Formats: sequence, C-alpha cells, structure tokens
Amino acid sequence: MASEKQLVAVTCTAPVNIAVIKYWGKRDEDLILPINSSLSVTLHQDQLKTTTTAAISKDFTEDRIWLNGREEDVGQPRLQACLREIRRLARKRRSAGDEDPLPLSLSYKVHIASVNNFPTAAGLASSAAGYACLAYALARVYGVESDLSEVARRGSGSACRSLYGGFVEWQMGERADGKDSIARQVAPESHWPELRVLILVVSAEKKLMGSTAGMQTSVETSSLLRFRAESVVPARMAEMTRCVQERDFQGFGQLTMKDSNQFHATCLDTFPPISYLSDTSRRIVQLVHRFNAHHGQTKVAYTFDAGPNAVVFALDDTVPEFVAAVRQCFPPELNGDKFLKGLPVRPVPLSEELKAALDVDPTPGGVKYIIATQVGPGPQILDDRQAHLLGPDGLPKPAA
Ligand code: DP6
Repeated sequence: MASEKQLVAVTCTAPVNIAVIKYWGKRDEDLILPINSSLSVTLHQDQLKTTTTAAISKDFTEDRIWLNGREEDVGQPRLQACLREIRRLARKRRSAGDEDPLPLSLSYKVHIASVNNFPTAAGLASSAAGYACLAYALARVYGVESDLSEVARRGSGSACRSLYGGFVEWQMGERADGKDSIARQVAPESHWPELRVLILVVSAEKKLMGSTAGMQTSVETSSLLRFRAESVVPARMAEMTRCVQERDFQGFGQLTMKDSNQFHATCLDTFPPISYLSDTSRRIVQLVHRFNAHHGQTKVAYTFDAGPNAVVFALDDTVPEFVAAVRQCFPPELNGDKFLKGLPVRPVPLSEELKAALDVDPTPGGVKYIIATQVGPGPQILDDRQAHLLGPDGLPKPAA
C-alpha cells in the first residue's frame, strides 16, 4: 500500500457540452479525427459534471480505474490511448528541459476514480465530460501544460469541446496526424448571461446504437452525410459563430434546430437506417414550433444528440412560460421525483391563447423531468484534499 507521502493526487471537475453544429463522422477512426468541424455550448457544472481523481505513486503496481465506484477494465483501447498520449506529452516536456515540478517518475502507475453528479441512467452524454476530466486530471498529475485537445479527443471526439467553458468550436483540421484538430473557445461563459438550457429527459433506456458505431455506418453509407460535411457545415460554422458573437437568439435558435434536424436526417439516410428520436422527441419538436409560431418568432430551440432526450435553448424571460407549456403537453407523473431540477423556474399560468395554439393531446409522463441549467465554465481543479475520490491508500473512498 502507498503511504500518504508517496502519493500525488489531483482532483478535477469537467462539464458536459451540447453541440449546436453536430460532429458526426470520422476521417480517422484511430486518431478520432472528424469529417467536419463542430460547435458546442458548455453546460454549467452546478447541474452536470464529472469529478475525477488521478493519483500516482511508485507503490502502485498497475494502472486502475473506478467509474461511479465500480472498477472497470483499464485496458479499453480509448483509455489506453489517453494514457499513452499524456505520458508522451509528459516525456516530451521533460526532455525539453523544463523543470520537473513534482517528485515523481513517468514510470509510476496511475489510479483513477471518476463519478458523475447526474444519473448515468438518464441517458445524458457522460463520455465528453468524463474524458475531458480524465485528460485534465492526468495532465495535472503528470505535469503536462500543453493543449489537451488531443488527449481528450482520443477518449471521445466530443470530449475535446468540454475542455473549455462558454461556446467552443472543434476545428476539424487538415493534417493526417491530427495536430491541427483542436478545440478553441469562441466566447466565454459570461458572454451571453441570459441564455438558458433545459434538458428534457425523455427516456432512461440505453441507446440502441452508440455514436461511435452509428457514425461509422453513416460515413460508409450516407451520401447526405458527405454532402453535409463538405457543402453545408463550413458556412454553418461561420454563421453560428456570428450568431453567438452577436447574441442573435433568432439566428442561433433556427440554425441549432436545422443542424439537429440535418444530423437526424443523415441518420435516416444511413443504411440500415438509424433512428434516435422517439415519439416524445417528435412531440417536443412540434411543441417548440407551435410555441414559436404563437409568438411569431424563435423563442425556443431544440437539439437532439444520439438519443431521444431534448436539449432546449431559450432566453431567461421565456423559460417560465415554456416550462408551463411542457407541463401542459406532458403532465408530470407523480412518482415522488421532482419534475423540475436545477435552476429555479417561477411558475406561471398558460394563457388560453397559447393553450389553444399548442393544440395537443397531453401525453402523461412523456417527459420524465426537466433539468434547468445555463452556460458554464470549463474544467476546474479542486484544491480541497477532502474532494479526492481516492484515499491515502490509493483506493476509492467508501462514498466514491
Ligand atoms: C451526436 O463524441 O460520442 O453527440 O468520438 O466516437 O466517441 P466518439 O463519438 P461522440 O459523438 C458525439 C455525437 C453527437 C454530436 C456532437 O456531440 O457533436
């Protein structure tokens, strides 16, 4: 067992991100290089985050990892790629003659423990936050200060966008070695303080087809995906960047919905076809469009990833009325769980006009609950030793 003195531990947190210009398709499966650039919004860690402790000690005999308290196979190729990459960067730094800030050796084995503050069962993307957090914690513990896009990306492509707060683009890059395929902040989290994000949790079921396998089949079979990557996304990246910079909600919302729809269209164009949306997802799409039509402008915008949950963007003054509309269409089932989690939302009555405009047959329980959140910062280091998920012996603390 490692004594406290011989163990160096670092604990970090990292956020979830939601793409408004979607990444779908790789040009290099091994290096995880995308066929198009993408742009995302980093969600606040008060509601959704991963916490990871990485510890190294000369007494550890092997690399080990625990996820949500359970030990997992450290040999998975993507985890191995991240570990290899961080050790390569650390070696490069040492040989460049930089001072070694930590009393450690690169040959030390690492123990990693990671937990999410949200239920994995909710079907919310956790791999992006997970691998961003892993990259960040490993970088600290091994004394790496260079860009971590490459390390996080090798875990999960979308993870490189969780390395920054606010609004983030992942530039696809051109080089075969991926050195220019990096994440970059477009605007900080303070840039658009009125922007709110509502996660409408629809189903806790496990995905039928994971993103990795899904996008691989799309690349092989969908000509629409190729057209999208080559002829649609470049202009959309520029337009989305403008909408964010100018805080143009109408433009931002419309393009967000169109890009989500096009991503799901490429899934349907995949052979055999992939379908991630459920009947409830489609009812949410209809609700959003009717809500906007009633107001004569884009007040709310949806986006869906590789699953049926909706992520809805709105400005803060629209949130109470939209939440009331969701309650109207999807009357909460009284199962003891709170329907609204996260940021508080003021209850308001729905006007008879809006009720009539929505014109829906209510689907009780269609939306299980809503998480209200906002744009947030990038990864953080927790200085408090109490925060470590690994004890002085290098094993998960009982609560982890
Ligand atoms: C639909 O990053 O999960 O969420 O690189 O194979 O791990 P891998 O895929 P992943 O794909 C995310 C796809 C998406 C869109 C997005 O986040 O841009």
